Amino acid sequence: MDMWIEDLFIRKAELFLKVVKSKWEKGEQEASQIAELMERHNIEAENLLELGCGNGRVAIPLAKIGYKVTCVDVSPLLIEDGRRRAAEAGVLGRMHFSVGDAREVSKLLKESYDFIYMTWTTLLGYYDEESDLIMLREARELVPDGGMLAILNTISRDAIARRQAECGSSIILKDLGGGMVLADHPRFDPASSRLTTKWVFYKKDGRDLIYVDEAILDFRVYDLRELVGLGKRSGWRFVAAYNDLDSFRDYIPGKSPLNVLFSPSASI
Ligand SMILES: C[S@@+](CC[C@H](N)C(=O)[O-])C[C@H]1O[C@@H](n2cnc3c(N)ncnc32)[C@H](O)[C@@H]1O
Repeated sequence: MDMWIEDLFIRKAELFLKVVKSKWEKGEQEASQIAELMERHNIEAENLLELGCGNGRVAIPLAKIGYKVTCVDVSPLLIEDGRRRAAEAGVLGRMHFSVGDAREVSKLLKESYDFIYMTWTTLLGYYDEESDLIMLREARELVPDGGMLAILNTISRDAIARRQAECGSSIILKDLGGGMVLADHPRFDPASSRLTTKWVFYKKDGRDLIYVDEAILDFRVYDLRELVGLGKRSGWRFVAAYNDLDSFRDYIPGKSPLNVLFSPSASI
């Protein structure tokens, strides 16, 4: 496993959980958007799979809607938090949480899924291109004809290049709640298409910020054409790309994250 992934999601998972918790409230809205996406594309899904699910921020609200949701993530702490929250929400019976690697997910799970999704710039680009192809092929193994794969709310190369052109590598401050602040220091390298971000965590103390810890994120960002190409090489046919899942407007490069939908293709 790459160093930064092990560091942020496993060793410093307590810290990462604070970031996830600050996004918890948005999970309900994201889940209903996913339900609408499936409806628009006539996917009669019962069985969903989220790869890189974190603590089930989006998966738990989907289970509350009534879907059966399987959640896979490499982080034992995030999975444990998800299981506890699902039990609290009374939906654990419709959910299956598993600690595992998306690069080997077909060995881990034996069922098939009508709809597989990953959301919030997850997995693709985290490792190398071969690993991205492996993950997409693994997902393909688990989806029958008629099912779909969605890559949602994912930073696009166009948007990140535009942000860098307009704002440079300026620091973004986020209040995480609970007296914690995150300073995000992004740096995009156009030659490698890698986004390297330093997350520095502070605790509020009156008007001061006290340093707590830091972590690095370092991943490749794709544009739509590159993602469609990866899909094609791993058994997926491009179906649609949206600007956002509020309006379902067609994707406009540079303006928004990517929301891309694929269906299984006949051949890899
Ligand atoms: C940005 S978070 C997204 C979490 C979740 N999708 C959400 O929206 O809250 C990325 C997640 O991918 C997980 N992850 C990283 N590498 C993985 C791998 N090889 N297999 C499964 N999960 C992985 C991390 O542990 C982390 O929870």
